[in-house]
Parts: sequence; structure tokens; C-alpha cells
Amino acid sequence: MRRIRAVSPEDFTLTAEAGVTLAEARGAAEEAGRLLPLSIGSEGTCNIGGVLSTNAGGVNVIRYGNARDLVLGLEAVLPDGRIWHGLNSLRKNNTGYDLKHLFVGAEGTLGIVTAAVLKLFPRPAERVTTLLAVPSAQAAVSLLSLAQERSGGGATSFELMNAATVDLVLEHFPDLPRPVETRAPFYALIEFSSGMKGTLRGVVESLLETAFEDEIVTDGTIAESEAQAEGLWTIRHNATEAMKNDPTYCVKCDVSVPIRHVPGFLKDADAAVEREAPGARVIAFGHMGDGNIHYDILGPEGAEDAAWRQKASRLERIVHDVVAEHEGSISAEHGIGQLKREELTERKSAVEMDMMRAIKAALDPQGLMNPGKLL
Ligand code: LAC
Ligand code: ZN
Repeated sequence: MRRIRAVSPEDFTLTAEAGVTLAEARGAAEEAGRLLPLSIGSEGTCNIGGVLSTNAGGVNVIRYGNARDLVLGLEAVLPDGRIWHGLNSLRKNNTGYDLKHLFVGAEGTLGIVTAAVLKLFPRPAERVTTLLAVPSAQAAVSLLSLAQERSGGGATSFELMNAATVDLVLEHFPDLPRPVETRAPFYALIEFSSGMKGTLRGVVESLLETAFEDEIVTDGTIAESEAQAEGLWTIRHNATEAMKNDPTYCVKCDVSVPIRHVPGFLKDADAAVEREAPGARVIAFGHMGDGNIHYDILGPEGAEDAAWRQKASRLERIVHDVVAEHEGSISAEHGIGQLKREELTERKSAVEMDMMRAIKAALDPQGLMNPGKLL
């Protein structure tokens, strides 16, 4: 199932089979002069079927939404062996339950996605990438509002990294230059894009002037070339890789909260972690523009493995309790699988769990599809 079945620039759609990689689908869109905006670290190897079954997110969600928002039609094999031919490419289709959304993010528990019609967009004519030193998480929230107001919603990515994230990446990748001289508690990597050429750079420079005056940015750099933009992104994309090189076990939390709660969540979670495990290193980074923070925790420098692992096993719950206080989700984009299955039943309401189980029982009464996951 590796075929791209159709690209229709007039409809702004692409129809791909489940085994097409995200990078291949993006390339086919580009050849037709269109943009498939979903962008995640694994795009060279991940497949469209997986992207949809996990409702992948990534760095462009703030502008284009996640995988769910990019699907118009689906083809899927049902647990009873029938094929659902739902490959329509309609933007408006109010004919009852929107069945495709049952399969998106279902982690393969309701059937097997075999092909999909995806939405395409005009390709941006201009891009501006900037990395900024930010004095606090609250300043980052203000910066996001300012950036969106002044650029007409032009930010396609708004990524936040705490100082420990940037330090860790630079420690493990010593060839990377420190992107801004001033040290700050947080850094924001913002990418703006526009369909019109020639205006964006001026808009970004002007909004940054205001940001400096308002002291929500203390230092920063604007990429002068594609290569420089790539360099800034390399720091962000190497966060997970840098953690793999650390000798201590890493607790990984993939959470989301409403954007206005990001500062409170970070403050409360940091305090809770420090109480439970003094000296533990919080590597917080992620897609702040959509409220998704990857809140990862490494052991204290030189931590003794057994003692740290014991503490680490409690930390995920502790962070998730803080998430609940801030009206958030314990899985923003990485899904439930087996690891969070138990906790899901505790955190979701009985009504929600009942509806999910009813849908599963109706479509897959024998429990054939990806058993043991999600539910
Ligand atoms: C990222 C992965 C961890 O955003 O989701 O880098
Ligand atoms: Zn992510």
C-alpha cells in the first residue's frame, strides 16, 4: 500500500495509501505546487496509516491543525472484513456521524486504515524563522499573542524550550553554536510564513521591536538564510536525541494545557518535581503555540540508578496531577497505547469511557483489532 493514488491541485487534495511515508506524501504535494503541512520529526519513516491512527501533531498544528484536521476521507477495513469506501474529498458533508474521525487517533482499535484523502494548502512564498530569549513563560504567552496579532496569524510554529533543554542539546552536540548570547529561562523558536512575498520580514522585525520594548524578549536572532533557519530548528529537533545520551533514566510526559495555563503548569510541575526528587533536571520543550509541552525529567547529575528509578516511577503521576489542576490532557500527541491505558480510565470520566467502550463493542465485538491498546 505504497501508492499515491491521486493529487488534485484544484481540489487541494492528495489521496495516499496507508504505507506511503509522510515525507513521500509531502513531496508529491510539493511537486503539484501544494503544501501538505503536517510536519513531525519522523516524517521520513512514518506512514500515513500510522499518522492517522495516532492523530499525529508536530510543529505546524498552531496554523494547520493535527492529522485529524487534515483528513477529508478514509478507506478502512472493518473487523468483520468489509471495506468502508469513504474516500470522499468534500469540504462540506453533513450526512450524519462523521465516521472518519472514529478511526483517526483510535490507535488501530476499530479497524485498519488503508488509504486517505488529505487536505493540501497553498505553498508559503516567504518564511521567517527566529529564536528569541524570553524572560519567563508568561512572557512567552504574551509573545505568542503579539506575534499572532501583528502577523495576521502568521506563526506556523511556536516552540518553547526551557534553558535546560538548550543547555543539554549544546552539551551533547558541541558543534552547534549557541544561537543567542544572552542566557534566559526560556527560548521561543517561532516560524512565520506567508503566501505573499516581500512583507513578512518587516512585520516580524516590527513586532520584535515591540517585544523588546515590552521586555517580553531580551535577545534574539532572525535567520538570514534557509541554512540558518535549519540550524535553529536543529537545536529544537535534537532535544529528544540529547536526552537519549544522558546516563540517567528519563521520565517522559507529553501533556497539553490551555495556553494561558502554560506558565502556571510549568511553575507548579517544577515545584512538585523538586519536592519529590530534589536536583532532578526538567527538560521542558514543545509546541507551546498549541499548548503541548513535552515535560521530560532526567535524574540529578550522577544519580544512583536504582534510587532514581524508584522516584521516577512516581513522577509521571505527580506531573499528571498538576496537568489535571490546569485542565489539561495526559497525552497531547503521543497517544495512549499500553503505557497509559490504566491511567486513562482513572482520568477520563465514566461517561467518556462508557461511550468509547460502546463504540469499540459495536464495531469490534470480538476485540480483534490491536488488542490490549487504548481500552
Ligand atoms: C517532539 C516529539 C517528542 O516534538 O514529539 O520532538
Ligand atoms: Zn512533539
